[in-house]
Amino acid sequence: MKVLVIGGGAREHALAWKIAQSPKITELYLAPGNAGTANIAQNLGLRPTDTEALAKAAQDIGIDLTVVGPEAPLASGIVDYFEHLGMPVFGPTGAATQIESSKVFAKKLMEKYGIPCPKGVGFSNYSQARDYLESQPTPVVIKADGLAAGKGVTVAGSKEEALRALSATMEAKVFGSAGDSVVIEECLAGEEVSLLAFTDGKTVVPMVPACDYKTVFDGDQGPNTGGMGSYSPPGFFDAELTEQVMETILEPAVRAMAEEGIPYKGVLYAGLMVTSDGVKVLEFNARFGDPETQVILPRLKTDLVDVLEATVNNRLSEAVIEWSANACVAVVMASGGYPGSYSTGFPIGGLDQLDKEILVFHAGTKQGKNSQIHTDGGRVLTVVATGGTMAEARAKAYRNLPNIHFDGSHYRKDIAAREVN
Ligand code: AMP
Ligand code: GLY
Repeated sequence: MKVLVIGGGAREHALAWKIAQSPKITELYLAPGNAGTANIAQNLGLRPTDTEALAKAAQDIGIDLTVVGPEAPLASGIVDYFEHLGMPVFGPTGAATQIESSKVFAKKLMEKYGIPCPKGVGFSNYSQARDYLESQPTPVVIKADGLAAGKGVTVAGSKEEALRALSATMEAKVFGSAGDSVVIEECLAGEEVSLLAFTDGKTVVPMVPACDYKTVFDGDQGPNTGGMGSYSPPGFFDAELTEQVMETILEPAVRAMAEEGIPYKGVLYAGLMVTSDGVKVLEFNARFGDPETQVILPRLKTDLVDVLEATVNNRLSEAVIEWSANACVAVVMASGGYPGSYSTGFPIGGLDQLDKEILVFHAGTKQGKNSQIHTDGGRVLTVVATGGTMAEARAKAYRNLPNIHFDGSHYRKDIAAREVN
Protein backbone atom coordinates (compact mmCIF):
# COMPACT_ATOMS: atom_id res chain seq x y z
CA MET A 1 0.00 0.00 0.00
CA LYS A 2 1.02 3.58 -0.65
CA VAL A 3 -0.14 5.94 2.10
CA LEU A 4 -0.11 9.75 2.27
CA VAL A 5 -0.30 11.60 5.61
CA ILE A 6 -1.29 15.26 5.38
CA GLY A 7 0.34 17.61 7.90
CA GLY A 8 3.78 18.39 9.24
CA GLY A 9 3.58 18.33 13.04
CA ALA A 10 4.59 15.84 15.72
CA ARG A 11 1.11 14.30 15.52
CA GLU A 12 1.71 13.51 11.85
CA HIS A 13 5.22 12.19 12.59
CA ALA A 14 3.65 9.86 15.18
CA LEU A 15 1.00 8.75 12.68
CA ALA A 16 3.66 8.11 10.05
CA TRP A 17 5.87 6.26 12.56
CA LYS A 18 3.01 3.91 13.43
CA ILE A 19 1.80 3.50 9.84
CA ALA A 20 5.36 2.65 8.72
CA GLN A 21 5.34 -0.37 11.07
CA SER A 22 2.55 -1.99 9.06
CA PRO A 23 3.74 -4.86 6.84
CA LYS A 24 1.23 -3.61 4.26
CA ILE A 25 3.18 -0.41 3.59
CA THR A 26 5.40 -0.19 0.53
CA GLU A 27 5.59 3.60 0.22
CA LEU A 28 4.82 6.38 2.70
CA TYR A 29 4.50 10.10 1.94
CA LEU A 30 3.86 13.23 3.99
CA ALA A 31 2.74 16.67 2.89
CA PRO A 32 4.65 18.62 3.96
CA GLY A 33 6.22 16.51 6.74
CA ASN A 34 9.37 17.67 8.58
CA ALA A 35 13.00 16.69 9.13
CA GLY A 36 11.93 13.75 11.30
CA THR A 37 9.49 12.27 8.82
CA ALA A 38 12.14 12.55 6.08
CA ASN A 39 13.87 9.57 7.77
CA ILE A 40 10.89 7.23 7.45
CA ALA A 41 8.98 8.61 4.46
CA GLN A 42 9.14 10.92 1.48
CA ASN A 43 8.16 14.54 2.12
CA LEU A 44 6.12 16.27 -0.58
CA GLY A 45 6.50 20.05 -0.66
CA LEU A 46 2.76 20.72 -0.58
CA ARG A 47 0.67 22.69 1.90
CA PRO A 48 -2.08 20.78 3.77
CA THR A 49 -4.74 23.19 2.46
CA ASP A 50 -3.65 22.93 -1.19
CA THR A 51 -6.40 20.41 -1.88
CA GLU A 52 -6.18 20.23 -5.64
CA ALA A 53 -2.39 19.85 -5.72
CA LEU A 54 -2.59 17.14 -3.02
CA ALA A 55 -5.23 15.22 -4.93
CA LYS A 56 -3.21 15.46 -8.12
CA ALA A 57 -0.04 14.25 -6.37
CA ALA A 58 -1.98 11.39 -4.76
CA GLN A 59 -3.38 10.36 -8.15
CA ASP A 60 0.01 10.58 -9.86
CA ILE A 61 1.69 8.44 -7.18
CA GLY A 62 -1.25 6.04 -6.94
CA ILE A 63 -1.89 6.59 -3.23
CA ASP A 64 -4.15 3.90 -1.74
CA LEU A 65 -5.08 5.77 1.44
CA THR A 66 -4.76 9.41 2.52
CA VAL A 67 -4.85 10.29 6.24
CA VAL A 68 -5.62 13.92 7.17
CA GLY A 69 -3.98 15.26 10.37
CA PRO A 70 -4.94 18.93 10.91
CA GLU A 71 -8.37 20.56 11.14
CA ALA A 72 -7.96 23.25 8.46
CA PRO A 73 -7.98 20.92 5.42
CA LEU A 74 -10.82 18.89 6.97
CA ALA A 75 -12.91 22.03 7.51
CA SER A 76 -12.33 23.17 3.95
CA GLY A 77 -13.59 19.85 2.59
CA ILE A 78 -10.50 17.89 1.53
CA VAL A 79 -12.31 14.63 2.33
CA ASP A 80 -15.28 15.58 0.13
CA TYR A 81 -12.87 16.40 -2.70
CA PHE A 82 -10.92 13.12 -2.45
CA GLU A 83 -14.12 11.07 -2.11
CA HIS A 84 -15.59 12.78 -5.15
CA LEU A 85 -12.53 11.59 -7.10
CA GLY A 86 -12.99 8.08 -5.71
CA MET A 87 -9.81 8.23 -3.62
CA PRO A 88 -9.88 6.52 -0.19
CA VAL A 89 -9.35 9.09 2.57
CA PHE A 90 -9.50 8.97 6.37
CA GLY A 91 -11.35 11.83 8.06
CA PRO A 92 -14.75 13.54 8.27
CA THR A 93 -16.33 15.61 5.48
CA GLY A 94 -16.36 19.41 5.65
CA ALA A 95 -19.94 19.37 6.90
CA ALA A 96 -19.15 16.79 9.60
CA THR A 97 -16.06 18.77 10.67
CA GLN A 98 -18.46 21.48 11.87
CA ILE A 99 -18.53 19.57 15.15
CA GLU A 100 -15.09 21.17 15.66
CA SER A 101 -15.15 24.19 13.34
CA SER A 102 -18.33 25.72 14.80
CA LYS A 103 -18.81 25.82 18.57
CA VAL A 104 -22.39 27.04 17.97
CA PHE A 105 -23.08 23.96 15.81
CA ALA A 106 -21.57 21.63 18.44
CA LYS A 107 -23.50 23.26 21.29
CA LYS A 108 -26.84 23.05 19.42
CA LEU A 109 -26.17 19.40 18.55
CA MET A 110 -25.37 18.50 22.15
CA GLU A 111 -28.43 20.31 23.48
CA LYS A 112 -30.78 18.79 20.91
CA TYR A 113 -29.58 15.24 21.62
CA GLY A 114 -29.10 15.53 25.39
CA ILE A 115 -25.32 15.13 25.36
CA PRO A 116 -23.96 16.47 28.69
CA CYS A 117 -22.20 19.83 28.28
CA PRO A 118 -21.93 23.13 30.16
CA LYS A 119 -24.94 25.43 29.79
CA GLY A 120 -24.25 27.91 27.03
CA VAL A 121 -25.86 30.24 24.52
CA GLY A 122 -24.70 31.19 21.02
CA PHE A 123 -24.77 34.77 19.70
CA SER A 124 -24.00 36.40 16.37
CA ASN A 125 -25.04 39.88 17.55
CA TYR A 126 -22.55 41.73 19.77
CA SER A 127 -24.96 43.84 21.81
CA GLN A 128 -27.19 40.83 22.55
CA ALA A 129 -24.12 38.84 23.60
CA ARG A 130 -23.03 41.71 25.81
CA ASP A 131 -26.45 42.02 27.50
CA TYR A 132 -26.49 38.28 28.18
CA LEU A 133 -22.94 38.35 29.53
CA GLU A 134 -23.87 41.20 31.92
CA SER A 135 -26.51 38.89 33.45
CA GLN A 136 -24.13 35.94 34.01
CA PRO A 137 -22.15 35.09 37.14
CA THR A 138 -18.35 34.81 36.93
CA PRO A 139 -16.18 32.92 36.21
CA VAL A 140 -17.65 32.58 32.74
CA VAL A 141 -16.30 31.21 29.46
CA ILE A 142 -16.30 33.06 26.11
CA LYS A 143 -15.64 30.95 23.00
CA ALA A 144 -15.10 32.20 19.47
CA ASP A 145 -17.32 30.08 17.22
CA GLY A 146 -14.77 29.18 14.55
CA LEU A 147 -11.28 27.69 14.29
CA ALA A 148 -8.75 29.80 16.20
CA ALA A 149 -5.76 27.47 16.61
CA GLY A 150 -6.82 26.63 20.17
CA LYS A 151 -6.69 30.28 21.23
CA GLY A 152 -10.34 31.30 20.84
CA VAL A 153 -11.41 30.42 24.40
CA THR A 154 -11.23 32.76 27.42
CA VAL A 155 -12.04 31.53 30.91
CA ALA A 156 -12.79 34.92 32.50
CA GLY A 157 -12.53 35.34 36.27
CA SER A 158 -14.20 38.76 36.32
CA LYS A 159 -16.95 40.60 34.45
CA GLU A 160 -14.37 43.09 33.11
CA GLU A 161 -12.17 40.34 31.68
CA ALA A 162 -15.20 38.65 30.14
CA LEU A 163 -16.42 41.86 28.48
CA ARG A 164 -12.90 42.54 27.20
CA ALA A 165 -12.70 39.07 25.67
CA LEU A 166 -16.13 39.43 24.08
CA SER A 167 -15.22 42.78 22.55
CA ALA A 168 -11.85 41.50 21.32
CA THR A 169 -13.56 38.51 19.71
CA MET A 170 -16.67 40.11 18.19
CA GLU A 171 -15.68 43.78 17.69
CA ALA A 172 -11.89 43.84 17.19
CA LYS A 173 -12.04 40.42 15.47
CA VAL A 174 -8.72 39.25 16.92
CA PHE A 175 -9.58 35.74 15.64
CA GLY A 176 -10.88 37.05 12.32
CA SER A 177 -14.20 35.65 11.10
CA ALA A 178 -13.95 32.87 13.71
CA GLY A 179 -15.34 35.55 16.05
CA ASP A 180 -18.43 36.43 13.99
CA SER A 181 -20.34 34.31 16.50
CA VAL A 182 -19.56 33.27 20.07
CA VAL A 183 -20.75 30.82 22.68
CA ILE A 184 -20.99 32.14 26.25
CA GLU A 185 -20.99 29.26 28.69
CA GLU A 186 -20.89 28.36 32.35
CA CYS A 187 -17.48 27.60 33.83
CA LEU A 188 -17.03 24.03 35.05
CA ALA A 189 -14.58 22.77 37.66
CA GLY A 190 -12.96 19.34 37.55
CA GLU A 191 -10.28 17.23 35.90
CA GLU A 192 -9.79 17.48 32.11
CA VAL A 193 -9.24 14.48 29.91
CA SER A 194 -9.32 13.71 26.18
CA LEU A 195 -11.07 10.59 24.93
CA LEU A 196 -10.67 9.94 21.21
CA ALA A 197 -12.53 7.30 19.24
CA PHE A 198 -12.43 5.75 15.79
CA THR A 199 -15.81 5.73 14.07
CA ASP A 200 -17.09 4.64 10.66
CA GLY A 201 -20.36 6.48 11.25
CA LYS A 202 -21.97 3.54 13.04
CA THR A 203 -19.48 1.65 15.18
CA VAL A 204 -17.52 3.69 17.71
CA VAL A 205 -14.30 2.30 19.24
CA PRO A 206 -12.57 4.32 21.96
CA MET A 207 -8.83 4.78 22.15
CA VAL A 208 -7.06 4.96 25.52
CA PRO A 209 -7.66 8.24 27.41
CA ALA A 210 -4.98 10.92 27.62
CA CYS A 211 -4.37 14.29 29.29
CA ASP A 212 -2.73 17.24 27.61
CA TYR A 213 -1.16 20.43 28.98
CA LYS A 214 -2.17 23.62 27.22
CA THR A 215 -0.36 26.43 29.02
CA VAL A 216 3.30 27.19 28.43
CA PHE A 217 4.61 27.21 32.03
CA ASP A 218 4.68 24.71 34.90
CA GLY A 219 1.70 24.75 37.24
CA ASP A 220 -0.64 25.65 34.35
CA GLN A 221 0.64 29.22 34.22
CA GLY A 222 1.10 31.52 31.25
CA PRO A 223 -0.60 31.75 27.87
CA ASN A 224 -2.13 28.82 26.00
CA THR A 225 -0.08 26.94 23.40
CA GLY A 226 -0.75 24.21 20.85
CA GLY A 227 0.10 21.77 23.69
CA MET A 228 3.24 21.36 25.83
CA GLY A 229 2.92 17.71 26.80
CA SER A 230 0.63 14.78 27.45
CA TYR A 231 0.40 11.42 29.13
CA SER A 232 -1.67 8.25 29.06
CA PRO A 233 -3.38 6.72 30.97
CA PRO A 234 -4.74 9.23 33.53
CA GLY A 235 -5.16 7.47 36.89
CA PHE A 236 -8.44 9.28 37.62
CA PHE A 237 -10.12 8.06 34.43
CA ASP A 238 -10.84 4.34 34.66
CA ALA A 239 -12.48 1.86 32.27
CA GLU A 240 -15.84 2.54 33.86
CA LEU A 241 -15.60 6.25 33.00
CA THR A 242 -14.59 5.37 29.44
CA GLU A 243 -17.70 3.18 29.23
CA GLN A 244 -19.83 6.03 30.62
CA VAL A 245 -18.44 8.50 28.05
CA MET A 246 -19.06 6.00 25.25
CA GLU A 247 -22.70 5.62 26.31
CA THR A 248 -23.52 9.23 27.13
CA ILE A 249 -21.29 11.18 24.73
CA LEU A 250 -19.39 9.47 21.89
CA GLU A 251 -22.05 7.02 20.65
CA PRO A 252 -24.90 9.56 20.99
CA ALA A 253 -22.83 12.18 19.10
CA VAL A 254 -22.15 9.83 16.18
CA ARG A 255 -25.85 8.80 16.11
CA ALA A 256 -26.89 12.46 16.28
CA MET A 257 -24.71 13.39 13.31
CA ALA A 258 -26.22 10.51 11.29
CA GLU A 259 -29.72 11.62 12.26
CA GLU A 260 -28.91 15.18 11.14
CA GLY A 261 -27.98 13.75 7.73
CA ILE A 262 -24.27 14.50 8.26
CA PRO A 263 -22.67 11.09 8.79
CA TYR A 264 -19.43 11.31 10.78
CA LYS A 265 -16.36 9.19 9.96
CA GLY A 266 -12.78 9.34 11.18
CA VAL A 267 -11.60 10.23 14.66
CA LEU A 268 -14.01 11.92 17.03
CA TYR A 269 -12.15 13.65 19.85
CA ALA A 270 -14.06 14.58 23.00
CA GLY A 271 -12.41 17.16 25.28
CA LEU A 272 -14.02 16.37 28.63
CA MET A 273 -14.35 17.74 32.14
CA VAL A 274 -14.91 15.19 34.91
CA THR A 275 -17.14 17.16 37.30
CA SER A 276 -18.92 16.24 40.53
CA ASP A 277 -22.05 16.20 38.35
CA GLY A 278 -20.73 13.71 35.78
CA VAL A 279 -18.52 13.94 32.68
CA LYS A 280 -19.30 16.85 30.32
CA VAL A 281 -18.05 17.92 26.89
CA LEU A 282 -15.90 21.06 26.67
CA GLU A 283 -15.26 20.61 22.98
CA PHE A 284 -15.29 18.16 20.12
CA ASN A 285 -12.44 17.91 17.62
CA ALA A 286 -12.72 16.20 14.26
CA ARG A 287 -9.23 14.63 14.22
CA PHE A 288 -6.39 13.12 16.23
CA GLY A 289 -5.24 15.40 19.07
CA ASP A 290 -1.80 16.95 19.29
CA PRO A 291 0.05 16.06 21.56
CA GLU A 292 -2.35 13.28 22.68
CA THR A 293 -1.60 11.18 19.58
CA GLN A 294 2.07 11.04 20.57
CA VAL A 295 1.17 9.09 23.76
CA ILE A 296 -1.82 7.15 22.40
CA LEU A 297 -0.22 5.54 19.33
CA PRO A 298 2.81 4.10 21.19
CA ARG A 299 0.23 2.19 23.29
CA LEU A 300 -1.63 0.80 20.23
CA LYS A 301 -0.70 -2.85 19.68
CA THR A 302 -2.86 -3.32 16.57
CA ASP A 303 -1.72 -2.39 13.05
CA LEU A 304 -2.97 1.20 12.63
CA VAL A 305 -3.40 0.74 8.88
CA ASP A 306 -5.92 -2.06 9.54
CA VAL A 307 -7.91 0.26 11.81
CA LEU A 308 -7.81 3.18 9.35
CA GLU A 309 -8.92 0.91 6.48
CA ALA A 310 -11.72 -0.65 8.55
CA THR A 311 -12.95 2.88 9.35
CA VAL A 312 -12.86 4.06 5.75
CA ASN A 313 -14.54 0.84 4.51
CA ASN A 314 -17.33 0.85 7.16
CA ARG A 315 -16.05 -2.39 8.71
CA LEU A 316 -15.02 -1.07 12.12
CA SER A 317 -17.44 -3.51 13.83
CA GLU A 318 -15.13 -6.34 12.66
CA ALA A 319 -11.91 -4.75 13.90
CA VAL A 320 -10.14 -5.92 17.06
CA ILE A 321 -8.16 -3.04 18.55
CA GLU A 322 -5.69 -3.83 21.34
CA TRP A 323 -3.78 -1.52 23.67
CA SER A 324 -0.77 -2.08 25.88
CA ALA A 325 -1.01 -1.51 29.63
CA ASN A 326 2.13 0.63 29.52
CA ALA A 327 2.28 4.28 30.59
CA CYS A 328 3.45 6.90 28.16
CA VAL A 329 4.69 10.48 28.72
CA ALA A 330 5.32 13.14 26.07
CA VAL A 331 7.17 16.42 26.66
CA VAL A 332 7.24 19.15 24.03
CA MET A 333 10.45 21.13 23.48
CA ALA A 334 9.64 24.61 22.20
CA SER A 335 11.51 27.60 20.78
CA GLY A 336 12.46 30.50 23.08
CA GLY A 337 9.57 32.98 23.16
CA TYR A 338 6.91 30.48 22.02
CA PRO A 339 3.85 30.86 22.04
CA GLY A 340 4.80 34.51 21.44
CA SER A 341 7.29 35.49 18.75
CA TYR A 342 10.43 33.37 18.37
CA SER A 343 13.42 32.91 16.06
CA THR A 344 14.19 29.77 14.05
CA GLY A 345 17.20 28.25 12.32
CA PHE A 346 19.09 27.10 15.45
CA PRO A 347 20.97 23.81 15.13
CA ILE A 348 19.54 20.98 17.25
CA GLY A 349 22.14 18.85 19.01
CA GLY A 350 22.06 15.65 21.02
CA LEU A 351 19.42 13.71 19.10
CA ASP A 352 21.93 10.84 18.93
CA GLN A 353 22.55 11.00 22.70
CA LEU A 354 19.27 9.41 23.81
CA ASP A 355 18.34 6.04 25.30
CA LYS A 356 17.48 3.68 22.48
CA GLU A 357 13.79 3.36 23.25
CA ILE A 358 13.08 7.12 23.45
CA LEU A 359 10.83 8.36 20.63
CA VAL A 360 11.39 11.83 19.22
CA PHE A 361 8.56 13.14 17.06
CA HIS A 362 9.52 16.25 15.11
CA ALA A 363 7.30 19.28 14.47
CA GLY A 364 9.08 22.55 13.56
CA THR A 365 12.34 21.08 12.21
CA LYS A 366 14.22 21.36 8.96
CA GLN A 367 17.24 19.57 7.57
CA GLY A 368 20.04 21.84 6.37
CA LYS A 369 23.49 21.28 4.88
CA ASN A 370 25.54 18.30 6.14
CA SER A 371 22.22 16.81 7.35
CA GLN A 372 22.28 19.17 10.35
CA ILE A 373 18.74 19.59 11.74
CA HIS A 374 17.58 23.13 12.60
CA THR A 375 14.60 24.56 14.45
CA ASP A 376 11.85 25.74 12.12
CA GLY A 377 8.80 26.46 14.27
CA GLY A 378 7.39 27.17 17.75
CA ARG A 379 6.91 23.61 18.90
CA VAL A 380 10.07 21.83 17.76
CA LEU A 381 10.09 18.26 19.14
CA THR A 382 7.92 15.93 21.20
CA VAL A 383 10.04 13.58 23.31
CA VAL A 384 8.17 10.41 24.29
CA ALA A 385 9.01 7.69 26.81
CA THR A 386 7.13 4.52 27.67
CA GLY A 387 7.37 2.50 30.89
CA GLY A 388 5.68 -0.17 32.97
CA THR A 389 4.53 2.60 35.30
CA MET A 390 3.91 6.33 34.89
CA ALA A 391 6.82 7.04 37.26
CA GLU A 392 9.17 5.00 35.07
CA ALA A 393 7.97 6.61 31.81
CA ARG A 394 8.23 10.07 33.33
CA ALA A 395 11.71 9.48 34.75
CA LYS A 396 12.96 8.19 31.39
CA ALA A 397 11.59 11.21 29.51
CA TYR A 398 13.09 13.73 31.93
CA ARG A 399 16.42 11.88 32.09
CA ASN A 400 16.81 12.18 28.31
CA LEU A 401 15.45 15.68 27.67
CA PRO A 402 18.57 17.54 28.91
CA ASN A 403 20.63 15.71 26.27
CA ILE A 404 18.81 17.56 23.49
CA HIS A 405 19.80 21.19 23.03
CA PHE A 406 19.11 24.20 20.85
CA ASP A 407 19.36 27.92 21.60
CA GLY A 408 16.42 29.16 23.69
CA SER A 409 14.79 25.74 24.10
CA HIS A 410 12.29 25.30 26.90
CA TYR A 411 9.92 22.60 28.13
CA ARG A 412 7.58 22.00 31.05
CA LYS A 413 9.02 20.04 33.99
CA ASP A 414 5.68 18.93 35.42
CA ILE A 415 4.15 16.73 32.71
CA ALA A 416 2.40 13.79 34.45
CA ALA A 417 3.77 14.96 37.83
CA ARG A 418 0.31 14.78 39.40
CA GLU A 419 0.16 11.06 38.58
CA VAL A 420 3.29 10.14 40.51
CA ASN A 421 3.12 12.33 43.65
P1 AMP B 1 -11.80 24.25 24.31
O1 AMP B 1 -10.99 24.71 23.11
O2 AMP B 1 -13.26 24.49 24.17
O3 AMP B 1 -11.43 22.88 24.78
O4 AMP B 1 -11.30 25.19 25.50
C1 AMP B 1 -9.94 25.34 25.80
C2 AMP B 1 -9.74 25.17 27.28
O5 AMP B 1 -10.54 26.13 28.00
C3 AMP B 1 -10.19 23.82 27.81
O6 AMP B 1 -9.19 22.87 27.68
C4 AMP B 1 -10.47 24.14 29.26
O7 AMP B 1 -9.29 24.19 30.02
C5 AMP B 1 -11.04 25.55 29.18
N1 AMP B 1 -12.52 25.51 29.12
C6 AMP B 1 -13.28 25.46 28.01
N2 AMP B 1 -14.59 25.46 28.33
C7 AMP B 1 -14.66 25.49 29.67
C8 AMP B 1 -15.74 25.50 30.62
N3 AMP B 1 -17.02 25.51 30.23
N4 AMP B 1 -15.44 25.53 31.91
C9 AMP B 1 -14.15 25.56 32.33
N5 AMP B 1 -13.09 25.56 31.51
C10 AMP B 1 -13.33 25.52 30.18
N1 GLY C 1 -4.61 18.72 22.31
C1 GLY C 1 -5.65 19.57 21.86
C2 GLY C 1 -5.96 19.46 20.44
O1 GLY C 1 -5.43 18.65 19.71
O2 GLY C 1 -6.81 20.23 19.99
